[in-house]
Amino acid sequence: MKIHVVEDYRQLSLKAATLVAGQVNMKPNAVLGLATGSTPEGMYSELVRLFHAGAVDFSEVVTFNLDEYVGLDSSHPQSYHYYMHHHLFNHVNIPAGNIHIPSGNAADMAAFCREYDQKIAAAGGIDLQILGIGVNGHIGFNEPGESLSVGTHLIELSRETIEANSRFFDSADEVPRQAVTMGMGSIMKARRILLLASGKSKAKAIRETVCGRVTPQVPASFLQLHRRAILIVDREAASLL
Ligand code: GLP
Repeated sequence: MKIHVVEDYRQLSLKAATLVAGQVNMKPNAVLGLATGSTPEGMYSELVRLFHAGAVDFSEVVTFNLDEYVGLDSSHPQSYHYYMHHHLFNHVNIPAGNIHIPSGNAADMAAFCREYDQKIAAAGGIDLQILGIGVNGHIGFNEPGESLSVGTHLIELSRETIEANSRFFDSADEVPRQAVTMGMGSIMKARRILLLASGKSKAKAIRETVCGRVTPQVPASFLQLHRRAILIVDREAASLL
């Protein structure tokens, strides 16, 4: 695990965007695994800036998003479909057919999850997987528990996650109770992983991720086992290291 501690959120966003753009410049048809949440917003806006400046071209890039809430329409402002179009896809030149986001409304969820994993495999696997981290150490929506799932699957959101994500909704009651997420196996198979964390609220999760035992109680701790995992954390998120 390589850890970069940067001064603040802006530095984190710039460094992350530089790394993603570098991946795309090195391999124009790179397969990117993308994350949502407030943490990567600054990275996406810097990538949009780099695109408009002619410093990166996404025309051959393929993307797979990590997760989606169950039951929200893709036009719902808190859906991850909406988020991704709002922050990235509407502003760069990734072909629509190259964009993959899990559906939170599939009639046959098991079949959908299987197909999602098949599509990742058919694309050649993920070159660079971006991750945020939940306050409880979740990545994607792989919540702490007795065990972790390998492939894309349906998950019940934990109380902490519902509470943490309620800031985006009018109340905690409106936060969906379930989500679809890529599994830990799909994440760990990525050739490179980039985890971003900012702010004091993530300090404990970052300490457990980096210094704790590898345990399904802290899903991000599995990144200790990945050969090319990079963490970019700001001073506050690194404050307990
Ligand atoms: C959600 C997402 C995660 C994300 C986490 C942290 O639960 N499913 O992918 O990492 O939130 O979000 P934030 O960056 O807003 O703290």
